[in-house]
Parts: sequence; structure tokens; C-alpha cells
Amino acid sequence: MNGHIMLNDPLNHNPFDEEGLTLSGVADMGHVVEPGVIDTSHGTILYLEDVTVSFDGFRALNKLSLEIDSGELRCVIGPNGAGKTTMMDVITGKTSPDSGKVFLGQTLDLTRMNEPAIARVGIGRKFQKPTVFEQHPVWENLELAMKADKGWFATLRARLGRDAQAKIEQTLETIRLESDARRLAGELSHGQKQRLEIGMLLMQKPQLLLLDEPAAGMTDDETMELAALLNRLRGSCSMMVVEHDMEFVAALAGETGRVTVMAEGRVLAHGTLDEVKRDETVIESYLGR
Ligand SMILES: Nc1ncnc2c1ncn2[C@@H]1O[C@H](COP(=O)(O)OP(=O)(O)O)[C@@H](O)[C@H]1O
Ligand SMILES: [Mg+2]
Repeated sequence: MNGHIMLNDPLNHNPFDEEGLTLSGVADMGHVVEPGVIDTSHGTILYLEDVTVSFDGFRALNKLSLEIDSGELRCVIGPNGAGKTTMMDVITGKTSPDSGKVFLGQTLDLTRMNEPAIARVGIGRKFQKPTVFEQHPVWENLELAMKADKGWFATLRARLGRDAQAKIEQTLETIRLESDARRLAGELSHGQKQRLEIGMLLMQKPQLLLLDEPAAGMTDDETMELAALLNRLRGSCSMMVVEHDMEFVAALAGETGRVTVMAEGRVLAHGTLDEVKRDETVIESYLGR
């Protein structure tokens, strides 16, 4: 059946093949998951266990384990070289781990999927540098993002016309660029471009958004506006945000949000921002003093 690997362990079953989505084999599963729907029945959107990545013998990730709850906004901090970007490379299929497990929901083994397939099942990634179509108006950037090829299943579901227009308007409002809709993206400020790029990711209805140092190079006002945007997205998708700016992290994590501290390719500490700030190992290796 299309080269599918069928194991008894439902965790190892992947209803999405390299080319996109197939329905084959779904009925053989212990519990049937609707195609295109991520099974978060156990409350977990992302699961990493003992993930190791080596570059010429150097372990960029060294048995990294972490779990993100469905709907959670998780902040990840840690010194340069801790492996934060490498972790995102592994989750998005850009880098294959030497060993370890990487699952989206209960059933999707991301280590068996390529980059486009992972994007199609609902993982959106925001890089540090905004990549918008500078020569096109803001609204057209959103329209182009919506049309980006996501395979036949998404194309079937996508209803163009009025629905598309409504989605663009709703996204413009979410990213607070309503009054800039007709301006060329190239004319926007850095902060506005960053928000536009997040809007472009939202057009693809991601289940999990990965943001790698999104506040880098922003003014204080832009940073706080970005934090407000991410806070508005709570509930519509799960998020993992890597960031150095502690005020930004505080604005996202609040008093109760969980913060993961990475160092040397693994999780150094984990807890509320207050808890990790008071953690001796964190103070020693990252926060200083
Ligand atoms: N493609 C690569 N080849 C060799 N070394 C790499 C590669 N990517 C990352 N590294 C190394 O892995 C370590 C972790 O890097 P990275 O994941 O970028 O850390 P962070 O994002 O936390 O700053 C660094 O020491 C970096 O030099
Ligand atoms: Mg990085």
C-alpha cells in the first residue's frame, strides 16, 4: 500500500505519505483519525523524545525531550548555540535527527515526512528575516499565501471567492494592517513586515506555529505589538516561540505560562518564567551573575 509502514503501534502509523495525503490504511488503525486532522486526543500537539542531531560529531541536539500541549504558547530561551534553531529544523523536516522521536499529535511521525508534507499537515514556520513579496500589496501577499500549494486535500476544502475575501479581511484585522492593505509590502516597517509574514502563515491555517526570534531587530513598540498579536492567536493555534528578549517572553508567558530553557542541545530547565529565572543552573549558564 504505497510503501506505507504499518506497525501495530499506532504511534508509528503515519496516514500521510511523502507525496501528501493518502487515506490508505486509516481503517486499520486502532482508532480512526480523520485525515487532515491532528490527533490531539491526549492533549499533546508536539512530542519530542531523546532527539539527537550531530554535525561532524558535534551534538547540536543531545537527547532533547519536550512536549507541547495543544493550544499552548511555549516560550523557549537559551544561549546561542543551544540548539534552538536546530530543534525547529528537525520539527519542520529540514534536518533529519540521528535518533529520537518527533510526533505531531498522537499519530504523525514527522521523522518520516519531508518538509512540504510537514508544512501541509499544519506546521508553519516563521524565520528571523521577514520574507514578504515586496512588490505586491499587503492584501495580495495574503492572497498568494492562501493559494500556496498545499496538496489536493486542502485545495478541495478551499472555497475561493467570498470566503477567501473574508479570510483575508479577518487576517488583516488580526495582524492590525487593515489600513495598510493596499500599500506595497516593501513600504512597510520591519515590525509591520513581521506581522504580515505571520498573517501569511495564518492564511494556511496552521495547527502549530514555530517562531524563531521573531522580535529580533524590532523596536520596543514593535516588540510589544508582536506580543499582543501572538496573545490574540491563543486558542486558534499552538505556538513555540524562541526568543532572547526577556520582556517579550514575559509578555507571552505571563505568570503561569511554561518556559523551556535549552542549553547544549537539551532541556536545562522548565517552569514558569519566575521559576526558571530563579533556577541556579539557568543563572549560571544563561542569565549570568
Ligand atoms: N548545518 C550545520 N552544520 C554544522 N553545525 C551546525 C549546523 N547547524 C547548527 N550547527 C551548530 O549546532 C549548534 C546549535 O546551533 P543552533 O541550533 O543554531 O543554536 P541556537 O539556535 O540555539 O543558537 C551550534 O554550535 C551550531 O554551530
Ligand atoms: Mg537560532
